[in-house]
Amino acid sequence: MLDVKSSICSCEQETDEQKYTKLAELMKQYKNREGRLIQVLHMAQAIFGYLPLELQRYIAQSMEKPLSEVSGVVTFYSFFATQPRGKHVIRVCLGTACYVRGGKKIISRLQEMLGVEVGGTTKDGLFTFEVARCIGACGLAPAIMIDDVVYKQVNPDKLENILAKYK
Ligand code: FES
Repeated sequence: MLDVKSSICSCEQETDEQKYTKLAELMKQYKNREGRLIQVLHMAQAIFGYLPLELQRYIAQSMEKPLSEVSGVVTFYSFFATQPRGKHVIRVCLGTACYVRGGKKIISRLQEMLGVEVGGTTKDGLFTFEVARCIGACGLAPAIMIDDVVYKQVNPDKLENILAKYK
């Protein structure tokens, strides 16, 4: 996955117009590159925070592609979001190893702690809570990921301390 977030700020103070200008500039740089649609979508998400339909339409028009192609890519990959996300994204792994070793208990505890269902964002906008299939830590399951950090051998009792780091 492209690490564009660190190189393009998510720019909360910028107006939408400034964000669209920035995206247009960046799209020019990717004009003739292979696989550029995914790269452009990563950049757009880094700038806007998520990819609403209006933004997908703009990208489709700018890249002279059908909207269905852009929307198809956005909905296919779980790392693209069409709704605003929280400041931090928690992904609980429910791949086979994590599922067998208690991933569902972690989900239940997080639902209680955060007061949201899977796919939701907390009222204060701090956390978005999602499920992942495998995050590459099967040997030390169950695992969760918060933003880019993987936590291994997690159990429900460790969650309070883990989340405290992000508050
Ligand atoms: S199944 Fe959870 S990290 Fe692989």
